[in-house]
Amino acid sequence: MNDRGAFITIEGIEGAGKTTCMGVVAERIAAAGIGLLQTREPGGTPLGEDLRALLLGHRHEGVSSDTELLLMFAARAEHLAARIRPALDAGDWVLCDRFTDATYAYQGAGRGIPEARIAALEEWVQGDLRPDLTLLMDLPVTLGLERAGKRSAPDRFEREAQAFFERVREGYLRIAREQPQRVRVVDAARPLAEVSAEIARLVDDFIQARRHGTA
Ligand code: TMP
Repeated sequence: MNDRGAFITIEGIEGAGKTTCMGVVAERIAAAGIGLLQTREPGGTPLGEDLRALLLGHRHEGVSSDTELLLMFAARAEHLAARIRPALDAGDWVLCDRFTDATYAYQGAGRGIPEARIAALEEWVQGDLRPDLTLLMDLPVTLGLERAGKRSAPDRFEREAQAFFERVREGYLRIAREQPQRVRVVDAARPLAEVSAEIARLVDDFIQARRHGTA
């Protein structure tokens, strides 16, 4: 096995079932006897959670896209320094609910910020650290919004129009097409049992590959 722990991220539009996915992935990793840090973005640290409340709340409607982008990366810088890197360096695995792919999808494809700007921040804040495996929970936007709408009052992002989420979904799918080795697309529109079984299989395969030094 590699010395550094593996870094796994979960992505998808609202209502795609990321929480269920996190549970399945965590269960498979625990079953393999591997230490795990479960966390989320924006968030994961006291400062990050405060920034999350600002970003998702309604006190700052109309905040500029650049401000939003920089706050996402501010939260990420703290998260990497305080939690993600120390865990990986200790050999633990890290499972994160959203990471920089969300920035490319939401602030890039969704808000229209040029990809090169996001890439510059990614390089600065992360160096060469990238997720080793990303599970992209994909489903039609109408279905995702319907599921998310039943859950709770909409946050600042969930209030966006359907066209925004169509761009976000397409942004995610483009990343998956460009990086098929890292990003595995899971059809999240299927019944829960099928989705969970596929996630478990993908994670078990990844654990095996990592043990054999091929992932
Ligand atoms: P969620 O994790 O509960 O789905 O909510 C987080 C929201 O923040 C979601 O609407 C996506 C958004 N987000 C971004 O816009 N950019 C980012 O980089 C991250 C991590 C999240």
